[in-house]
Amino acid sequence: MPLQANEPLADLSIDARVYLKHFYHQEAALVAAAPGRVNLIGEHIDYCDGFVLPLAIDRHIVIAAALNNSNQARIRTTGEEEAIISLDGAQEAGDPKWANYLRGVLEGFRLQGSWPVPGFNAVIVSSLPIGGGLSSSAALELAFATIVEGIVDTVLDTKEKALLCQQAEHNFAGVPCGIMDQFASAFGQKDNLVLIDCQAQEPELVPFHSNDLSLLVANTMISHDLADGEYRARREATEQGLATLEKESWRQVSLADLEGVKEAMGDLIYRRSRHVVSEIARTVEAAEELRRDNYAALGPLMAASHQSLRDDFEVSCTELDLMVELANKIGFEGGVLGSRMTGGGFGGATVTLCRTDQLREIGARLSISYEQETGHAPQIFATRPVHGARLL
Ligand code: GLA
Repeated sequence: MPLQANEPLADLSIDARVYLKHFYHQEAALVAAAPGRVNLIGEHIDYCDGFVLPLAIDRHIVIAAALNNSNQARIRTTGEEEAIISLDGAQEAGDPKWANYLRGVLEGFRLQGSWPVPGFNAVIVSSLPIGGGLSSSAALELAFATIVEGIVDTVLDTKEKALLCQQAEHNFAGVPCGIMDQFASAFGQKDNLVLIDCQAQEPELVPFHSNDLSLLVANTMISHDLADGEYRARREATEQGLATLEKESWRQVSLADLEGVKEAMGDLIYRRSRHVVSEIARTVEAAEELRRDNYAALGPLMAASHQSLRDDFEVSCTELDLMVELANKIGFEGGVLGSRMTGGGFGGATVTLCRTDQLREIGARLSISYEQETGHAPQIFATRPVHGARLL
């Protein structure tokens, strides 16, 4: 099927309850959900004090849990080995590896003072493709943090919770990510994009009310691994750029400043830096145009963002370029307003802003052409902005 249906959250919640009953013979006391995200614009600048403009998508991680009168968390996910985590003291990374995100979140609660956490059983179900560049790890962290909040009967400040989850990713998964994914999953709101000022670490909602428009997410099915060094290398290149500029923050840097140190920087750092400065400007402009309901202005901004990520920042790949090119070929006449790669890159997904009444046709055309050219069937689904992490 060219356009995949989104599994309703209520159905995922039923699945999670049934699995808890099946594996642990318990009724769920708590069920939490957290969405994945796509980023409309503002890529690879959340760790550069930039602005980013993601939305929470209608694909979730859902966790059902119940206390087990022990000092262990026992957690299962369909298809993975059970994780048994001792709640006696400080958490350390270990096996199974997939559970390191959870250990990181528990460690955050311990450091924050919500400790001890009583023992519990939990199961995790998901409608988010893993490794598809849609922040399945942030959604897992946020859903788990929300369950733990319920278990210890504390509600953290949303920003504190998102930052705690980011630390889990840094310290237990080894990915030096910015704040975008966790903030999008935590602060998402129905019918709104989340403009994040990554310097102030403050979110601001930007309405996306028009039902005439939707976002099409196209997973290339090429998987990326952000921990493989490329992400870290990009981060380091931007730090080097800023040091050469002798500025405190990218927010103080103009394209003219950059020209002034072009020679001193060398070509590579210059291009990485040009991406940062230009992408910050594009994101600010995109948010302004959205506030004026001027959706048509987003097309050229998304195109320029993709080009900059491809040529200056070099985080795209053939499959992402192809998917964007196919959407651009369909064009405005065919209902496409703009398209670009989204997320960390090196595979993963593209985001395409489309007219809702032409979604099906656009999805089918992308799917057929992409499979013809690459031999891989993509996963394509439509979404509108949904609510962030919460107890159901
Ligand atoms: C990954 C990271 C985010 C962000 C994006 C690129 O998704 O987790 O913090 O840096 O890449 O925009």
